[in-house]
Amino acid sequence: MAKDGSTGRRMSMAGMHLDRQSDMPLYQQVAAHLRNQILDGRMPAGTRLLGSRKLSAELGCSRAIVLTAFDLLYAEGYLQSVPRGGVEVAAIARPSGSSPAPTETAADGAWFSERWQSLLATDYEFELGSPFSTGTPDISEFPFDVWSRLLRQTWQNPLRSACIDMSPLGWQPLREATAEFLGSVRGLLCRPEEVAITQASSGALDLCCRMLLDPGDEVWVEEPGFIEARWSLKAAGAKLVPVPVDDKGLCVAEGIRRAPNAKLAVVTPSHQFPLGVAMKLERRQELLEWANRRGSWVIEDDYNSEFRHRDSMTASLKSLDRTGRVIYLGTFSKVMLPSLRIGYLVASPRFIEAFGRGRSRIDVHTAGTAQPALAEFLRHGHLLRYIRRMRKVYAERQQAVLDALQALMPDELVVPPTPAGLHLTALFQPDLAERITDREASRRSRQAGGFIQPLSQCYLGEPDRQGLLIGYGRLPADEAHPRLAAVTALLRS
Ligand SMILES: Cc1ncc(COP(=O)(O)O)c(C=O)c1O
Repeated sequence: MAKDGSTGRRMSMAGMHLDRQSDMPLYQQVAAHLRNQILDGRMPAGTRLLGSRKLSAELGCSRAIVLTAFDLLYAEGYLQSVPRGGVEVAAIARPSGSSPAPTETAADGAWFSERWQSLLATDYEFELGSPFSTGTPDISEFPFDVWSRLLRQTWQNPLRSACIDMSPLGWQPLREATAEFLGSVRGLLCRPEEVAITQASSGALDLCCRMLLDPGDEVWVEEPGFIEARWSLKAAGAKLVPVPVDDKGLCVAEGIRRAPNAKLAVVTPSHQFPLGVAMKLERRQELLEWANRRGSWVIEDDYNSEFRHRDSMTASLKSLDRTGRVIYLGTFSKVMLPSLRIGYLVASPRFIEAFGRGRSRIDVHTAGTAQPALAEFLRHGHLLRYIRRMRKVYAERQQAVLDALQALMPDELVVPPTPAGLHLTALFQPDLAERITDREASRRSRQAGGFIQPLSQCYLGEPDRQGLLIGYGRLPADEAHPRLAAVTALLRS
């Protein structure tokens, strides 16, 4: 040990690699390396470091980077300066023993609540980036030039209220523009005070579940239905009651038979997920009548209805609602960009006001960065023009998939009429269902280079149908036939 109490060793950092592609700034990489060495005991208290000039030469970076890293570690108490300008490791309290790194125990999520453990244990197969993904739009024609101009303009000289004190219900001009947009694109007449801006529609659903439900409350869900919606419901402790869907949509009478006092029903009436059927008027009236009678809530997830492929527009359930029992959810994820994470909720002004009070106690409001630009994007009609263009693109892609299926497996797959959206469901005819399950077919699609989701995973109970959910949002029309031919060849083998 040296006279000054140090160990006398001067530690170099040779061997540390600075990753210049990383998002982590270089000084933080240097600091993280030293911090880890100290915490692991490889640099005990008193270890002297080489001078900043020598270290920066070793690392091939500027001296300022090393000095900034030192400053950070001084502030955190890992380093201290010694007389005559040296730097050494300070005596710090290290976590004792060799406790495993958090990631070593994290894999099974054992520290989550029982509710979350069971949620994570649910069998769910999907593949990010598959050409057949059901909910992914094509972004290649998105007007990024306009969008980036609006982002720049709205942030050049922003209003104070865009930066601080934003309302939990969202940026007021965006609420106004969204109300106007819904009138044009969905024929849904609503006022700005009936609109709240949310963290896409899944964020809206999650908050509604948390605010409306107590653990054990019964909730009707469509069978088959949208799996992600069930996760939010389960996370809120709901008891899920599967209600079958037939060619008229949700079988309301069956829902009433199974759980007459359910607190909530979550439905996709315009374009049922995953089967694509639109709920018939008599079923809509039955559903609203039940909700009014029981004082129950109906969440209408109106995903992707903007992309209707024929001229007919299926009116929303919300437009029939006279008593404020329907909470309508929509999203800009598909009509614009999924990463935007902005959506909206339309409900009675009383509900919206209470929702805003609830939201201010949980996550305050939806991120405000893009809201002013989005309001302008809507106000100037850019979104309507873009949707009009994309409707044609998606209609052509849907037709290409239908033609391919008709050519490849005309007797084995049947597609129910699908008037809107970015996917269709091909149902197995009995011959095919006898030969192969949809889960096996789905596994084979992965081998063919494009994962296709099996219908049976959209069921809570025993599936009464087998099929494949074929998304075409990001599937160019000319790729539909060759890609599906590769899949169907493996289904036959
Ligand atoms: C049935 C359904 N609802 C809602 C959504 C939209 O989710 P979000 O708005 O959270 O992106 C999707 C997306 O795939 C969906 O398939």
